[in-house]
Amino acid sequence: VTGSRAELTAALGAIVGPADVLTTAAACAPYLVDERRLYQGRALAVVRPGDTAETAAVVAACAAAGVAMVPQGGNTGYCGGATPRGDDEVVVSLERLDRVRALDRVGATITVEAGVTLAAVQDAAATAGLLFPLAMGSQASCRIGGNLSTNAGGLAVLRYGMARDLALGLEVVLPDGRVLDRLRALRKDNTGYDLKQLFIGAEGTLGIITAATLKLLPRPTQRVTFLATVGTPAAALELLARLRETVGDHVTSFEYLAADALARLDEAFPAAAWPRLAAPCVLAECSGFGADDTRLLEAVAAVLEDRGIADAVVATSEQQRQTLWRMREQVPAAERQLGGSVKHDVAVPLGELPEFLDTVRAAVVARWPGCRLSVYGHFGDGNVHFNVLAPPGADAATFRRDHAAAIGTLVHDLAEGARGSFSAEHGVGQLKRAELARYREGVEIELMRTLKHALDPRGLMNPGKLC
Ligand code: MLT
Ligand code: ZN
Repeated sequence: VTGSRAELTAALGAIVGPADVLTTAAACAPYLVDERRLYQGRALAVVRPGDTAETAAVVAACAAAGVAMVPQGGNTGYCGGATPRGDDEVVVSLERLDRVRALDRVGATITVEAGVTLAAVQDAAATAGLLFPLAMGSQASCRIGGNLSTNAGGLAVLRYGMARDLALGLEVVLPDGRVLDRLRALRKDNTGYDLKQLFIGAEGTLGIITAATLKLLPRPTQRVTFLATVGTPAAALELLARLRETVGDHVTSFEYLAADALARLDEAFPAAAWPRLAAPCVLAECSGFGADDTRLLEAVAAVLEDRGIADAVVATSEQQRQTLWRMREQVPAAERQLGGSVKHDVAVPLGELPEFLDTVRAAVVARWPGCRLSVYGHFGDGNVHFNVLAPPGADAATFRRDHAAAIGTLVHDLAEGARGSFSAEHGVGQLKRAELARYREGVEIELMRTLKHALDPRGLMNPGKLC
């Protein structure tokens, strides 16, 4: 660090206005701790630029002072990727970059600044009669810059892909303060390396995303949403295959709830109004467009009947549909309410899911007898949350502190052993750096470090995260 802290905060204040440079403990507090309270950080200051030019000037000032920066969006991440580590770092909050810059109904694109919440992007698209399909439980508070920086997934990946698949163009402030303007609304553009993809999923280690041009899609005119008892994971996969054979990629979501996830919901929310079906269950949604309307419901009903699935609730109103989704989305809240869990978000190839689940369940229960599980997730993506809670009566925080690392190693070893991934959607951040080093080939890590060094030779952009 060159120059004094006071000089840097004065310089930042001259750029964004003194009110948006936070330095007191109370003002900084919400930016210094992560969503899951795994990391309590410190920072020299929190700075809140109001537009791209201010963001670039902030980055240039920090770079000139040799001070590291931690970009932060809605601060809803699960791996500590947006939490500063020490009081020699500046948090750059994107929350004031919250404008929808443009919406093109015919071209079906929207250009938004990084601090727009995911829900606000969805709402802006809906106002134009279109769909922005990225969706997840945190959508009211997570912000699109963070969604892109972490390549967020969520509940409709099966049909629409991850954040990466929905980005057409980006505007990025590079670690030295230069601005890369690639806000193009083009579906076709073969002009060399697709640089925007470098910054998507980079967790803020290569630059700060300040705006994005995103794909919009036709808005479904009908949704058939159902909760069904499937019997086994293998039967769930067979149901998915049959649904796709019948209605193609109108299958939008295919979520799985094992018996233990349903039990956690009942423990935490005994009076909730959602239906109680025998476990395991699938919550699936198919989306129809115009001419499909009448046929979609019949087709889904026929598949359920054909698979011999009698125990099912098909939503008959938007309210019922939302109740079913609330049930699914409340599983993480149930875990929190029960004292918190050791969380995993592993992926394995779809066909490996049934055996993987049997194996990992048996191994965890044998080694941590009495622990409670919460197993659920995005089955159609091969992505399951295999979460582990303390045995009833045990202190949840102590259990997590003492066993999280060993449970993680066991679960991740089995997932990687099945040619899967130790992190399907939540990313690496601070939490899973050791896993990245453990499971990825030397050549892969070397390439990541080569890229990091090329873009951020002084290591000032979100240090200590990812690789
Ligand atoms: C979810 O799918 O609900 C979240 O990604 C997982 C979690 O909170 O564990
Ligand atoms: Zn998830």
